[in-house]
Amino acid sequence: MSLAFTPVTIGEWQLPQRFVMAPLTRSRVGAGGAPTALNATYYGQRASAGLIISEGVQPSAVGQGYLWTPGLHTPEQVAGWRLIADAVHAGGGRIVAQLMHVGRVGHADNRGGLEGVAPSAIAARGVEIVTAAGKQSAGMPRALESDEIPSLVGEFARAAENAVAAGLDGVELHAANGYLLHQFLAPSSNQRTDAYGGSPAARARFVIEVASAVASAIGAQRVGIRISPAHNVHDALELDPADTAATYAVLVDALAPLGLAYLSILGDPASGLVQDLRRRFGGSLIVNSGFRSRTSLDDVTAILERGLGDAVAVGREFIANPDLVERWRLGAELNEPDPTTFYGGGAEGYIDYPSLESATSR
Ligand SMILES: Cc1cc2nc3c(=O)[nH]c(=O)nc-3n(C[C@H](O)[C@H](O)[C@H](O)COP(=O)(O)O)c2cc1C
Repeated sequence: MSLAFTPVTIGEWQLPQRFVMAPLTRSRVGAGGAPTALNATYYGQRASAGLIISEGVQPSAVGQGYLWTPGLHTPEQVAGWRLIADAVHAGGGRIVAQLMHVGRVGHADNRGGLEGVAPSAIAARGVEIVTAAGKQSAGMPRALESDEIPSLVGEFARAAENAVAAGLDGVELHAANGYLLHQFLAPSSNQRTDAYGGSPAARARFVIEVASAVASAIGAQRVGIRISPAHNVHDALELDPADTAATYAVLVDALAPLGLAYLSILGDPASGLVQDLRRRFGGSLIVNSGFRSRTSLDDVTAILERGLGDAVAVGREFIANPDLVERWRLGAELNEPDPTTFYGGGAEGYIDYPSLESATSR
């Protein structure tokens, strides 16, 4: 049997197998960014994943970039997340919230007119955001003042505390894919001249401060972090391989002593960079090779059998297959994900993908 079906301990959690549900924004939460019973049903259906990483969650109102994404900064949102935590736990699963502050990737229309913030006043070129008025270019962000940074760090810590208060099992910090934390790391989006910009160490400083604050707030063993070195999406460009290697080495060397639950890397797990970062981190590694083709069971098995990671994050197949683990265990056919219902809408394409059980009992 594939190594994928063997248990593994990651942070505080005992995963019965090594399939992690990747963070997947679905843009379906209720008013005020509060999750609803519909969202709880969706996550509860997927409780057999080894660990669920939630869709991106804004730690503050200004951290929202897209329509209908959840937050973790109001009492109503915390109450909504409790529905999700309870549903996943009732199914025997574990779930962490992915804290995602979009920074400059988003639109003011999607957050009540609030101006976006970023390391520097540089717009994300070529990035279009779906708004109620149709697609619009991501706006020009305001550069964060140096003295605003401590309170921004504090927002992440408070959102993590809220996650725990809601009964979630922890948080993942989204430092990938060109959002705020990644915008600090990438030279193209960070041209600051204070202590948070310039050298690799300075660009890594904000992410390190956020990770340290969140780890102190809820305990390091309940905190993971996702990075995507040189993924070059959303105009956060890391085009100089030597600079990229230096930046992520500084970052991961500083994260290592915190004792975080895991490092999650979006990128080729066989690359020298990913494996170098894994050695530096010294703890559990979750991998996902990105958007090329959907992650298959053969991909997961090959990654684990080559010893390239401890668990594998799987995205689109978990959208379409609530009982993916069981289907892969049995060698059963998979449902096909429908990209037209990935973002927005209601139950369709969200909670109506059949499980094997429901398909056979029809
Ligand atoms: C609909 C959709 C939404 C996504 N939302 C997020 C997100 O909120 N946070 C994140 O880190 N990655 C997000 N991703 C990336 C996935 O976590 C994953 O890396 C990607 O789907 C590739 O894995 P796969 O081939 O198994 O689907 C999203 C991907 C898709 C398809």
